[in-house]
Amino acid sequence: MERTTITWVDGHVETIDQTVLPELRLLRLSTVDELVDAIKRLVIRGAPLLGAAGALGVALAAAVAEREGYDPERVRADAERIASARPTAVNLRWGVEQVLPFVDKGADAVLVAALDLAAADVTANKELGRRGADFLREQLGERPLALHTHCNAGALACVGWGTALGIVRSLQEDGLVRMVFADETRPLFQGSRITATELAELGLPHRVVVDGAGAGIIARGMVDAVVVGADRIAANGDVANKVGTYPLALAAARAGIPFVVAAPESTIDPATPEGAAIEIEEREADEVLVIGGRRMAPAGTGAVNPAFDVTPSDLVTAIVTERRVIRPALGERAI
Ligand code: MRU
Repeated sequence: MERTTITWVDGHVETIDQTVLPELRLLRLSTVDELVDAIKRLVIRGAPLLGAAGALGVALAAAVAEREGYDPERVRADAERIASARPTAVNLRWGVEQVLPFVDKGADAVLVAALDLAAADVTANKELGRRGADFLREQLGERPLALHTHCNAGALACVGWGTALGIVRSLQEDGLVRMVFADETRPLFQGSRITATELAELGLPHRVVVDGAGAGIIARGMVDAVVVGADRIAANGDVANKVGTYPLALAAARAGIPFVVAAPESTIDPATPEGAAIEIEEREADEVLVIGGRRMAPAGTGAVNPAFDVTPSDLVTAIVTERRVIRPALGERAI
């Protein structure tokens, strides 16, 4: 299976509706409003995919503008709406900003730049996946590994291949994957709905576990390494990722196993000095309180629903990018 999660078809953005996976439903986005709504509802999600969606979103804004009398100012205003659709994954704004210099040159120039950016994501993921697999082989020896992951950092969170699952895929090529534990990832089940779908398609042995089981199975010695993605990495090496990542890092440190973060360089934000400066997206309480249309708490009970948490750099064994391995727990900075 080799899938491209987002493409440009006949003047539209075509993608997969990630809210209904494991059911596969393709979606065509024809306006900036539709694209912004898709990002807010997590139809399009995952930091690297958000980067590509940001760039292709500006291409969409430019294409629409060209049909209605090209006005670069209007395209730039649409670009800002896209960049601010979700606050935590820095890749979204990064993707928009990469193509903004082409806006004055017209819609075709923006599209070429956006397609280049999307293609580069797949190449970067393959590179960082191989580097991460080699790092784990060095750290843990040449033996089949049990890996634990959270949320979805696979091909569907990217244009293709995946970041954390990119490492798993490289280890699979080496014949070194014994088991993958996937946290179900409450409240939106990216682990059970999306990661498990990818692992099944790849023919990898896997089990879904409830988020609360992660630390316990690590403590029982069932896991050799934790591999996760990231939404934003601060200059000091603090890592924002899907809520529930930090407890895995604590458990990994206590158990003495590697906690590895896989992300492209575009996830490292030079403008964010440390994790405390990262805006954590707060989402609707009903995402937590209502499952499948059924209310799981008494009427009147509220919920706090942060979409991400921050893992401090001292718990991060390695950040693996397409260019390097950074060792925050050994005091190395990302920038
Ligand atoms: O809210 P989501 O589903 O967009 O959150 C996604 C994550 O937290 C991923 O782990 C992260 O974006 C890395 S994806 C390669």
